[in-house]
Amino acid sequence: MMQFPKIIQGGMGVGVSNWRLANAVSKLGQLGVVSGTALDSLFVRRLADGDKGGNMRRGLDAFPFPEMAKRIWDEYFIPGGKPVGVPYTIAPMHQRRELRKVVELCIVSNFVEVFLAREGHKNPVGINFLEKVQMPHLSSIYGAMLAGVGYVLMGAGIPLHIPGVLDSFALQHPSEYKLSIIGAVQGQDTAMNFDPADYAEGRLPILDRPSFLAIVSSNTLATTMLRRATGRVDGFVIETPTAGGHNAPPRGKLQLNASGEPVYGERDAVDLAGMRAMGVPFWLAGGYGNAAKVREALDNGAAGVQVGTAFAFTEESGLRPDLKNELLAQAVAGTGVVFTDPLASPTGFPFKVAQIQGSYSDAEVTAARTRVCDLGYLREPYAAPDGNVGYRCAAEPVANYVAKGGKAEDAAGRKCLCNALMANIGHQQTRKDGFIEPALVTVGDDLNTVAQFLAPGRTSYTAADVVESLLSQTAEAVHREPALVATV
Ligand SMILES: Cc1cc2nc3c(=O)[nH]c(=O)nc-3n(C[C@H](O)[C@H](O)[C@H](O)COP(=O)(O)O)c2cc1C
Repeated sequence: MMQFPKIIQGGMGVGVSNWRLANAVSKLGQLGVVSGTALDSLFVRRLADGDKGGNMRRGLDAFPFPEMAKRIWDEYFIPGGKPVGVPYTIAPMHQRRELRKVVELCIVSNFVEVFLAREGHKNPVGINFLEKVQMPHLSSIYGAMLAGVGYVLMGAGIPLHIPGVLDSFALQHPSEYKLSIIGAVQGQDTAMNFDPADYAEGRLPILDRPSFLAIVSSNTLATTMLRRATGRVDGFVIETPTAGGHNAPPRGKLQLNASGEPVYGERDAVDLAGMRAMGVPFWLAGGYGNAAKVREALDNGAAGVQVGTAFAFTEESGLRPDLKNELLAQAVAGTGVVFTDPLASPTGFPFKVAQIQGSYSDAEVTAARTRVCDLGYLREPYAAPDGNVGYRCAAEPVANYVAKGGKAEDAAGRKCLCNALMANIGHQQTRKDGFIEPALVTVGDDLNTVAQFLAPGRTSYTAADVVESLLSQTAEAVHREPALVATV
């Protein structure tokens, strides 16, 4: 019988749950999950920063097609790193008909992240994607599978097409993904296609089909996935609205409380008896970052829990040290405030935002930023009047958005998550005029409880500290080993 992890360290994009964190968690016998979001752009920035520690190089050396790896290295690596203040080079944005170099970058960067997360142990590693970030899916999943990813986890939408993609790629068969294109007419071809043979620069191995876990917020969504997905759904992560990152919107008409946050009610509660009756393993997420909640989840029939916030502040996570320290200090003082922002994310989903002075959560910082869209992961494809597919993001300059058929009111209050999330992990863009892109940190409502992981006299904690603490009311043992790779 398949052995499931009790703890899934949730995917945290961009680059918060990086290969180093996932490696540490998987090595402890639980499931480490790398974020697959925007890995191509993150890879470009790591190379532009000189690949300190040589980790990207090590991953590239393991890539099965050396010529492809070399093309990327030659284009983006800057020995010693780019000078401070010089803007990063930007890779071309994703689109339905992808440029070959964009696809190659996606395959390679996803391969490297999973390869590094798997180094030095034999336990499975997962990768997390957001269904809403549609266009990189096929090439990213293929790259992750080439590196032997054990689980694919996907939320922020209804990932009906993905299980079938995994089945096809396991056999090295071509696959397609039907984009959701706003305003597409009946019968319009919306498919993106990927054929492994088009990118093979050598013999193609048969790959293992990873397990697929859908991240859902309701029984209805879980049932829909089981009935209509294009292939096997191996389990569910059930995420409640206290979780860090994006949250599902409340059911029914959106109502805001006095602070302007979405109000969730009884209709948003998940029926665990119903979940158990589906006969598919499930993990509970959102406020499960302590031993008592892990015990409670197991007692309620869950296979385990998925935890994000507690892992976001570990020594191994990709979050910038100054932001980590600031939020840890807030947690210790019990003063951390998390705002569920109904507008910030261009996806339209509520997005949890930690309040940090001088960050993008600050109205003054927001006012000082000129809108620009140059990474484009959250651009939505739309059917343009000329019959082509156009792309727009609600956080791009409002006039551009409106010129592309978007409504000005839908652009109000939106923030550029692409640039902000890069800033969260120390890869902030510097603009030509010297403006530095601000950070916007997402964490769960549980922020203040992470102080529990700090031993007396300590100002930091590790992934092993979290895993050990979470499992302390279960019979599961934790095997601590020395870290494989020195931290950079
Ligand atoms: C910093 C951060 C980033 C996150 N990014 C993602 C993401 O990219 N994709 C995703 O599916 N979930 C994301 N999440 C949600 C986590 O995977 C996890 O489900 C959630 O954090 C669990 O609730 P908790 O925060 O109360 O532990 C993120 C959470 C945090 C804290």
